[in-house]
Amino acid sequence: MLLWMPIDRSLDMPLIRQVYSQIRSRILKGDLQYGEKLPSTRELSEWLKVSRNVVLEAYDQLLAEGFLVAERGSGTYVAEGTFLEQTRLTSPYQSHLLQADEKDKGDVINFRSGIPALDEFPRKTWSRLSQAVWQDVSSATLGYDMPEGRTELRLILSRYLMKTRGVECHPDQIVITSGATQALTLAAKLLLTQGDHVVIEDPITHDIQTIFTNAGAKLYPIPADEYGMQTALLPQHIQPQCVFLTPSHHFPLGGTLPIQRRIQLVNYVRETKGYLVEDDYDSEFRYEGPPVSSLQGLEPDRVLYIGSFSKILSPALRLGYLILPLQLIEQCRKVKWFSDLHTSSIDQLILARFIEQGYLEKHVAKMKKLYKSRREVLIQSLKELFGDRVTIIGFSTGLHLITEWNEVSFTDEKLAYIESCGVKVYPVEAHTLVKGRHTHRIIMGYGHLTDEQIREGVRRLGLALNEVRSVIK
Ligand SMILES: Cc1ncc(COP(=O)(O)O)c(C=O)c1O
Repeated sequence: MLLWMPIDRSLDMPLIRQVYSQIRSRILKGDLQYGEKLPSTRELSEWLKVSRNVVLEAYDQLLAEGFLVAERGSGTYVAEGTFLEQTRLTSPYQSHLLQADEKDKGDVINFRSGIPALDEFPRKTWSRLSQAVWQDVSSATLGYDMPEGRTELRLILSRYLMKTRGVECHPDQIVITSGATQALTLAAKLLLTQGDHVVIEDPITHDIQTIFTNAGAKLYPIPADEYGMQTALLPQHIQPQCVFLTPSHHFPLGGTLPIQRRIQLVNYVRETKGYLVEDDYDSEFRYEGPPVSSLQGLEPDRVLYIGSFSKILSPALRLGYLILPLQLIEQCRKVKWFSDLHTSSIDQLILARFIEQGYLEKHVAKMKKLYKSRREVLIQSLKELFGDRVTIIGFSTGLHLITEWNEVSFTDEKLAYIESCGVKVYPVEAHTLVKGRHTHRIIMGYGHLTDEQIREGVRRLGLALNEVRSVIK
């Protein structure tokens, strides 16, 4: 019997491992069955064009693990009891990942929000700094580190945030996290016990809702308008443990919270003895109006401030931070330690040098110019094609804007039809807690799209919207 199997010399996996795992998996699946004879090591090595030693070692391993038996003088056979029924041939995780990949394949122009221009990542500078860090770090740095993160990064970050965001903090108040997502998860663990109330903007990203409900919280939604959370509606009959909001740039509607509402929020948490959780995920990219200071700067004792490098650099870095009131520092360090010990020390050191040597400010300035121009292309294309059929809101900050269509209600069916026309847009309604208020609004992210893609995407959207009413009633 000849046994074919693909051998890929370009893979990192050693040849012995490749032969071993392919035979092992065929035995488990029952493709090679009890009693079947395997080719001799000489035959198989000639067939696969690998050295005989490779096959010998793979067979030895399979013999040692009991998958094969050797019969003196007669050959090597599949052992008894080695078949395992495969209950799930494809894991749901694989198919989920595949779907994510598929989305970006093909010719669909994807107005997904929150993706920076990844081809503009400062690769050369980053790799140069990375090399320098690897050359300079002591062996001790390669061991376990402190849960709050590297002092170098926390020091430089506290200065940078004071300067750019009006955040008042000592470096000890900072915990470096794996993105804003982990910062939020830590904040939820820190503040909440089962059944606590969290006041939250509606709409808000579904992931954020889930982080709080997973921590056992009951969500109390407050509708957001074009300025963000409508603080006049803050509940007086409950005592929420925290209020979560995105005051610099509400996600997804795009509003910036005015000072009057900020003061109302500070007074509210002072009275209820709760905390504000301020998610400042992308406000570096503010194109209109004066820069807004953080809520944290108004009441450092009652605000947990969250920031991220996902939008200003890349989500792949998984670097973010949580700034805490003094009384929560110790507890937060413990929670972080028991979550993942600490965030990669090396990546933190590279980032610290990146900020210290002025590259971050330069990069943000460059990207702001690029996004501003992409934003203008999008706004202009929408106005040219749709005139007053469309209202554009939430465009002063960030990497996305919202379009409002009085004549269209975006059902799943209609969105699927629009996608089949080669352009993907995202419904605000997917992020709502109370359903039905935002069906005529879609989110359009533009940070990662070129001018041509934006123009073509809008053109396709126009064609799709012209046809959709006759196709779907
Ligand atoms: C409002 C908001 N907060 C936080 C995040 C998470 O960012 P990170 O990649 O830093 O975890 C996102 C992601 O897009 C977001 O939209």
